[in-house]
Amino acid sequence: MAELVDPTSRLRASFLEAVAEFRADRDYPVPWFVTDVDPEALTDPTAFDRYVERLLRERDESESRPEWFVPMTTLWWAEGDHMLGRLAIRHRLTPTLERVAGHIGYDVRPTARRQGNATAMLSAALPLAYALGITEALLTCDETNIASRKVIEKHGGRFAGTSGPKRRYRVPTHP
Ligand SMILES: CC(C)(COP(=O)(O)OP(=O)(O)OC[C@H]1O[C@@H](n2cnc3c(N)ncnc32)[C@H](O)[C@@H]1OP(=O)(O)O)[C@@H](O)C(=O)NCCC(=O)NCCS
Repeated sequence: MAELVDPTSRLRASFLEAVAEFRADRDYPVPWFVTDVDPEALTDPTAFDRYVERLLRERDESESRPEWFVPMTTLWWAEGDHMLGRLAIRHRLTPTLERVAGHIGYDVRPTARRQGNATAMLSAALPLAYALGITEALLTCDETNIASRKVIEKHGGRFAGTSGPKRRYRVPTHP
């Protein structure tokens, strides 16, 4: 059964395969999943360990960071050693996050799509967001992203207007 796990070097091989799949995806080739990876982590196992450590530090409230970058909990969605997707919970909103990206973002690797993974991943993440003090999460998706829109609406997302090409939703997190 798939579950949300902390980023770990144990999943390196599967993670690298997933990145290659994302890059080959014509519909959505450069999600955050891909752009956020330190380039050297793609070839050097030690750099991969450092990348994982960075991800884990990003959730730490006491870490120093630029003002625009809020603490963020990144989690990987995996079944055993097989990585299926990733999800990030931003602990609070900045004006830009409020308009564009919201509290929670997720990506499912192309070969794992249309199997309920995003739906299950968001179900697993909402209680974690609640535990972080987010009682109502803001989620956004492109007007054209039917799949993400369905995922959000299935979790009780209340439409909260558009911002440019984005649809914005308020999603209750209470378990
Ligand atoms: C959007 C995304 C996360 C959905 O992941 P997924 O695991 O395929 O989603 P699910 O399998 O849980 O499907 C949710 C619903 O969307 C539907 N769906 C999935 N892909 C679809 C598609 N390409 N077109 C239309 N509907 C689609 C499913 O049939 C399901 O509908 P249902 O509830 O009526 O059965 C995935 O396509 C993805 O990673 N896309 C690229 C990155 C991205 O868009 N991230 C979200 C940014 S807001």
